[in-house]
Amino acid sequence: AEANVGVVGLAAMGASLARNLARHGNKVAVYNRSYARTEKLIAEHGDEGAFFPAETMEAFVDSLAKPRTAIIMVKAGEPTDAMIDALADLMEPGDIIVDAGNAHFPDTIRREKAISARGLHFVGCGVSGGEEGALLGPSMMPGGTEESWTTLKPIFESIAAKAEGEPCVTHIGADGAGHFVKMVHNGIEYSDMQLIAESYDLMRRGLGMTPAEIGDVFAAWNETELDSYLIEITAEVLRQVDKKTGKPLVDLIVDHAGMKGTGTWTVQAALDLAVPVTGIGEAVFARGLSSQGDLREEAQRQGFDGPTGAIDMPAEDCAAFVEDIREALYASKIVAYAQGFNEITEAAKKYGWDIDLAAVARIWRGGCIIRAKFLNRISEAFESGEANVSLLFAPYFKDAIETAQRSWRRVVSRAVAFGIPVPAFSSSLAYFDGLRSDRLPAALIQGQRDYFGAHTYQRVDMPGAFHTLWATEEREEIEA
Ligand code: 6PG
Repeated sequence: AEANVGVVGLAAMGASLARNLARHGNKVAVYNRSYARTEKLIAEHGDEGAFFPAETMEAFVDSLAKPRTAIIMVKAGEPTDAMIDALADLMEPGDIIVDAGNAHFPDTIRREKAISARGLHFVGCGVSGGEEGALLGPSMMPGGTEESWTTLKPIFESIAAKAEGEPCVTHIGADGAGHFVKMVHNGIEYSDMQLIAESYDLMRRGLGMTPAEIGDVFAAWNETELDSYLIEITAEVLRQVDKKTGKPLVDLIVDHAGMKGTGTWTVQAALDLAVPVTGIGEAVFARGLSSQGDLREEAQRQGFDGPTGAIDMPAEDCAAFVEDIREALYASKIVAYAQGFNEITEAAKKYGWDIDLAAVARIWRGGCIIRAKFLNRISEAFESGEANVSLLFAPYFKDAIETAQRSWRRVVSRAVAFGIPVPAFSSSLAYFDGLRSDRLPAALIQGQRDYFGAHTYQRVDMPGAFHTLWATEEREEIEA
């Protein structure tokens, strides 16, 4: 038994992770249900480091040095459960099973319970960065016990992306904490993508710019505080020309956005915690609407009257409006992150996780899909305590929002006037305005609730719970 780590499941992500491990001096046992895939990996990349190919799971487990560490990278759900059970049957107390897939955190909590009852460690680990990240350095978000982290730390630090020299991995917290944080990462990824898409729509339909021109705008934005992986690849996607037709490729792609569920989970969890994650929510719903093909076709047939999306504006004002869009994107992005971190804070309270938000921001600076320059500022804001209540209240971000505010309002109001849907921009602005408001119409809602359901309300001028006999002549108020 020589291998210090093993990988189970050698599809794209698993194979890349195994190669990354081997390239960084780890001795890597590899196992796949069909051995052909294992052979292919060894034939093509066996010279990249020390691999120990196993034909059976027994051989795989035997090749691992104790405490055995096996990383599972198979499809979420059933296949993951099957693999965990099979491994746990062969492993011994103290051994570590890592699930590096995109598991739903309640499943991770359940699995951790079951596996730890057998004396083994189970670590749900979020891994971000796609196939390339898995090979060249992902951002990693492990949960599980402190004890398992002691073993995993050097292994994970050897393969994680580096941001300013620091490995993009940290122990997030107990049981499902790692997968929870990865889930919120994905939710933020959804909202980032939606905000970028709305910006593109405003320029494409609104200002009539070509995809290549808009690609240049995004490339220029990538030199500002928006500097991020998603902005960078957006420029590349928009500049791509279809080889067959010579047209911009984006114009030929069917406009139905797919999703595999992590964004939806983020919103479901937020609903359970009663934390508004409006930016993420609208991003999930926008994908949903885009994919309701029949409904959209019928809406086309109905031929509703209304603005076409073309923004009526003198040409000389267009550059200023593009700058407004950039500001609106930045402000909305800050709101989405503030909401996402807020969700993590509330979940940590509910599930008893001790999560260092500054560390989360630090490990998102490299390797992952939402990696962005401004995560440096976010980690500083959490480190100093300035963002304890909300990221929006840290002076750097408060300033940024205040600077962007007028642009943000112009973008949303123009979009509404000219008929371009901007659900993520407008819901982020509504969240901000909701927070700013001295009084909210929630007072009226409390009155309605008390009217039809005697749900009681509190008063601003005296303590206690009150119920009003709304429909009686005297409209009597009584203390409930
Ligand atoms: C990552 C990505 C990764 C995957 C998403 C895509 O962090 O590397 O988030 O996990 O690309 O699952 O999600 P959708 O298919 O739902 O867009």
